[in-house]
Amino acid sequence: MKVDTELFGRLSNQEDAQLFTLQNSQGITVKLTNFGGTIISVLVPDRKGKLEDVVLGFDSLEDCLGPHPYINTLVGRYANRIANAKFNLDGKEYHLAQNAGTNHLHGGIKGYDKVLWNYSQYADHDRAGIMMSYLSFDMEEGYPGNLKVDVHFSLNESNELAIEYSAATDRNTYLNLTHHGYFNLNGAKNTIYDHEIQINASSYVETDKDLMPTGKIIKLKGGPLDFRKMKLIGPEIKKLESGFDHCYIIDREKDGPELAAVVYHPASGRKMEVYTTEPAIQFYSSNFLTGLRGKGNIKYRKHLALCLEAQHYPDSPNQPHFPSTLLKPDEIYRQTTIHKFWVE
Ligand code: BGC
Repeated sequence: MKVDTELFGRLSNQEDAQLFTLQNSQGITVKLTNFGGTIISVLVPDRKGKLEDVVLGFDSLEDCLGPHPYINTLVGRYANRIANAKFNLDGKEYHLAQNAGTNHLHGGIKGYDKVLWNYSQYADHDRAGIMMSYLSFDMEEGYPGNLKVDVHFSLNESNELAIEYSAATDRNTYLNLTHHGYFNLNGAKNTIYDHEIQINASSYVETDKDLMPTGKIIKLKGGPLDFRKMKLIGPEIKKLESGFDHCYIIDREKDGPELAAVVYHPASGRKMEVYTTEPAIQFYSSNFLTGLRGKGNIKYRKHLALCLEAQHYPDSPNQPHFPSTLLKPDEIYRQTTIHKFWVE
């Protein structure tokens, strides 16, 4: 396999963003840029071999600059919400940007989605990938600690698009990294109502009207949120006010990447499995996606795509009984999330 690199565009500070192409012999092609670790396209064949781009996104660097709701970008330093945009750490109160009402969302004003990442690339007979690195400085967006983050994107001959993260800090900090892909296995022609989904979770994090955790974990016992068995999305989403924007707690039987979710589009036969080492996955059905034109000049609208963001629970810094997101200087943060594509 190999990596092709071309110039994607130039930023206002004269730095260049690259566009990388990873392709395997099974017909899968992934394009991504080191601006925000943004995935530009993912071509996947259907039953008849017809290729379709299964992610939303943008054609140009200019469009990637936004504003847009984290379409296919990396998210950090803390993915998801932090209540009242503050937390206490080591006896000190830290204040973050209030960019979601009075709360904090997805790392702040200039998060990891809006920075240019350093990169190196590699390829062998079975795998091709890009290693992206970013040094997030002490107090950047209000977070303590110089944090060195490495994210390795790769595609292999088993149709796995893997995103592997590692990070190290020089002071105690809170960290919750994710990638925010917007998927539509039929190529963003229609909503995701004709997709089926299964989520390997028997509980979820209860949230209030501002999507902030109440602190309670709710057991799933049937109803529209329960996806322990594969179900069509359309009939379930219609039972909800806005759609899905829920943090599911993955049922884990082993260490290492666990199957968290399966998405299937019966008409085309395209299927995507998501495996992760993270404890939870945010299932977001693009409820707030309006007023934006994406690649091919397509008008983006509510419920056009689904996001399965592998991560820790929202607001963990303020919820001591949630799995910890604290990273100490003598530790290494690691996460692996794999998207595996099938045709059935
Ligand atoms: C959140 C949504 C938010 C979206 C875009 C998702 O991760 O769960 O509430 O609107 O990201 O920012």
